[in-house]
Amino acid sequence: AGFPSSDDGESPFSVDSEGLQRQIDELASFSDSPAPSVTRVLYSDKDGQARRHIKGIMNQLGLSVREDAVGNIFGRWVGSEAGLGAVATGSHVDAIPFSGKYDGVVGVLGALEAISTLKRSGFQPKRSLEVIMFTSEEPTRFGISCLGSRLMAGIEELAQSLINVVDNQNVSFLEAASSAGYKMHPEDLHSVFLKKDSYSAFIELHIEQGPILEKEGIPIGIVTAIAAPASIKVEFEGNGGHAGAVLMPARNDAGLAAAELALAVEKHVLDSGSIDTVGTVGILQLHPGAINSIPSKSHIEIDVRDIDEKRRNDVIEKVRQSAAEISKKRGVVLSEFQIINQDPPAQSDKSVIDAMEFAVKQLNLEYKLMISRAYHDSLFMARLSFSFLSPSHQLIRPIMSSFCRISPMGYSHKPEEYASPEDMANGVKVLALAMAKLSLE
Ligand code: GLV
Ligand code: MN
Ligand code: MN
Ligand code: MN
Repeated sequence: AGFPSSDDGESPFSVDSEGLQRQIDELASFSDSPAPSVTRVLYSDKDGQARRHIKGIMNQLGLSVREDAVGNIFGRWVGSEAGLGAVATGSHVDAIPFSGKYDGVVGVLGALEAISTLKRSGFQPKRSLEVIMFTSEEPTRFGISCLGSRLMAGIEELAQSLINVVDNQNVSFLEAASSAGYKMHPEDLHSVFLKKDSYSAFIELHIEQGPILEKEGIPIGIVTAIAAPASIKVEFEGNGGHAGAVLMPARNDAGLAAAELALAVEKHVLDSGSIDTVGTVGILQLHPGAINSIPSKSHIEIDVRDIDEKRRNDVIEKVRQSAAEISKKRGVVLSEFQIINQDPPAQSDKSVIDAMEFAVKQLNLEYKLMISRAYHDSLFMARLSFSFLSPSHQLIRPIMSSFCRISPMGYSHKPEEYASPEDMANGVKVLALAMAKLSLE
């Protein structure tokens, strides 16, 4: 068939799983928090070190390396029919504060190992194969998740809003990018947009980030859909004042308004009646942040997700109503209620699921079809498919995206995150074989 196979059921691939583990450990050392935790925030020095490291590996593998205006990094193995849409894979290496060393990283270093494995096996791609390291999948610094892949998908409003966005130190996106070596004019952001037919398929290898595969003893998950994420930023303002001198009836405490809204989020999520609806208040900041000062300002950020977009949107609407009611009841000003993103879910394309099922069967691995409750850059790469009809975020048409998972301890976004070398090697093999198959289609 042109791609590596064997008749005896033996794996046709030799993945260097020790080498991959070494790479993962090395990348984890580029961190702004002590091991075993990893903190690697967009355009920080550590992020820059990780970027140089990834480009170095791409060069060693003989890939043709390109970097776009915001630092998405592409390593391409040019196929014999270079004019055809490429088969792409990839993920991110930025890490939220005090997280682990596998989230995203397995999908970048593992993808590079998949390419290396295919090269060692003598495979010759027809469609080019490409590994992408996406800029800022995590929303840590500017509050925008999947920044690189959103831009690639050509979201015009994002290109506009990035010009004005600042981090919590008041550093603008353009300044931060510039100090990391990505000097650009606002209009250069458009150069990141990709044409719809750039890729024929996209697959992302990622750790599960949940407990299902481990519990069921299954090494590989094939993702059929990604849940719909949304995030909201809310601010309340009150008069503040002295914690001793201002009596309770005279207060309008912005902190208590935020606390009440956080509980309302939980209530609305639980009232949805579905176990698939989840909501989190992961950021709650009070100003001035002194024990003896009534909070005069509060800032909270709310993450709401569901596999059902309408049910997720209903929760957002109820949260909006609660914010207004709380502001009225407590005499505080609702100075901001901003929906930062309200994305539709994505469905994996059958052709990609088929390629992955082919791969796991060829490798004699057990697998499970599952949905991803975490979001990934795949959510936006899916929009690059020709069949995505509407940029309005309403009409969702599937796609060319899907990824396989490797078994974790169920922990993610914390230092205890773990994937075994064997599971990662299986993930790499599935990825390599699925990409090889898609490359020849
Ligand atoms: C991304 O890391 C997410 O929160 O799913
Ligand atoms: Mn993450
Ligand atoms: Mn991730
Ligand atoms: Mn994610």
